[in-house]
Amino acid sequence: MKVAIIGTGYVGLTTGVSLAFLGHDVTCLDVDESKISALNSGLIPIYEPHLDELMKLARHRLKFTTQASDALGAAQVVFIAVGTPSLPDGKSNLSYLKSAAQSVGQFMAAPHVVIVNKSTVPIGSGNWVESLVRDEYREKNIRKSSEFSVASNPEFLREGSALSDMLYADRVVVGADHAASIQVLRDLYQPLLEQTFDAPSFLPRPENFKAVHFLSTDLQSAELIKYAANAFLALKVSFINEVAELSEKVGADIVSIARGIGLDARIGNRFLQAGLGWGGSCFGKDTLALISTGQEYGLNMPITQAAREVNFRQRRRLVEILAGELKILKGKRIGLLGLAFKPNTDDLRDSPALEIARMLLDRGAQVVAFDPIAMKRAQKEWSDVDLRYADRAEDVFVEADAVVHVTEWPEFRTLPYEALKSVMRVPLVVDGRVGLDRDRLVSAGLKVIVLGKSS
Ligand code: UGA
Repeated sequence: MKVAIIGTGYVGLTTGVSLAFLGHDVTCLDVDESKISALNSGLIPIYEPHLDELMKLARHRLKFTTQASDALGAAQVVFIAVGTPSLPDGKSNLSYLKSAAQSVGQFMAAPHVVIVNKSTVPIGSGNWVESLVRDEYREKNIRKSSEFSVASNPEFLREGSALSDMLYADRVVVGADHAASIQVLRDLYQPLLEQTFDAPSFLPRPENFKAVHFLSTDLQSAELIKYAANAFLALKVSFINEVAELSEKVGADIVSIARGIGLDARIGNRFLQAGLGWGGSCFGKDTLALISTGQEYGLNMPITQAAREVNFRQRRRLVEILAGELKILKGKRIGLLGLAFKPNTDDLRDSPALEIARMLLDRGAQVVAFDPIAMKRAQKEWSDVDLRYADRAEDVFVEADAVVHVTEWPEFRTLPYEALKSVMRVPLVVDGRVGLDRDRLVSAGLKVIVLGKSS
């Protein structure tokens, strides 16, 4: 099929490259000329494992352009994958979505076009997009006979494992009010649903993975599924963090507790990793948008609200732990292991590292950080923050009064802690991700505080 993707961020690019890999002719459209010219020279503007390799395999079926007419003129399916960032009142900024819909209305020309909202959009946006497209289409194309419909196909991709989440998805959800649009999308995803494609060597198919579940719904339900899924994952993490705080007080171990409850199949063991909580571009934005949608209908959403409060409390709690140990933070040197909001990405959006660094700097501490991938981006995006950057993870320990494990990059587990203890001013490590080998660090002579475990 001929597919256009509007927006070449994480979601748009992953979707575009994957659909080209599955055999479709895909044109990706973006207003950012520098992004498009980088992509045309084979460079990927984001860090996502294996995206470059998959793009090479699919290159002959992929085009990148800034010209809406080139992308949309022949497309049978158009994915809108533009950003919907939060506005100060918690609602989503829909200006990119609006201009994408208007471009589709101006330039679509295939006999029947399915327009798919891939961006996380407020409930009811499908109908809004339909009216925007229709208005624009009527105005510019009075005599053409193109017909179109709007569908919602939310994404459930995790940054850092977006490609395996796409190719080996738990489910594909499609919401539309017309059976024909659902069928078009079922056909589009057929190789993925039936797993008939040859798995790339760098993304092998998981053992016994045979098919992907396809769920079709009405438009609104698909839109709400996306918010409900993210809010539920967010509250699962916040729940374990709330229990972790109590666990510290009663002398229990949050890792055993998570295992103990996660073995109950009704609960499940995923998203029960305690620590500094969630960050990233999705959970914060989507929980806020869900609450704001509830408010529009006069409905409080106290559970989602509490998940947010507990999450952001974790960051403040970590600074209080440091203050409790060091007494005075002014003039103290604190090392941060990790800056990205989670490992395997260079994404810094709503990263706990930034908020923790800001709180420490406000209290007069010096902050030295290292991240294997995200440092370049941090230097650019956080240029207003007085952070110092270390060349190697080991360097954040030099003369440090404490080192905080902020992002669980695997390499931080195997640092030479025995040697690092002797370069620190105070041998204190706070494990904000419950991921270091406490016994090893303690044998190395370090004092280790683990969120969720009593010291
Ligand atoms: C999340 C969802 O997992 C995706 O399904 C969804 O498509 C995406 O948002 C989105 O809406 O675009 P992502 O933000 O990439 O994906 O990251 P996750 O892997 O879900 O992690 C989110 C945050 O929760 C991270 O900061 C992670 O460190 C934290 N987390 C996760 C925990 O603290 N504990 C856990 O047990 C799991």
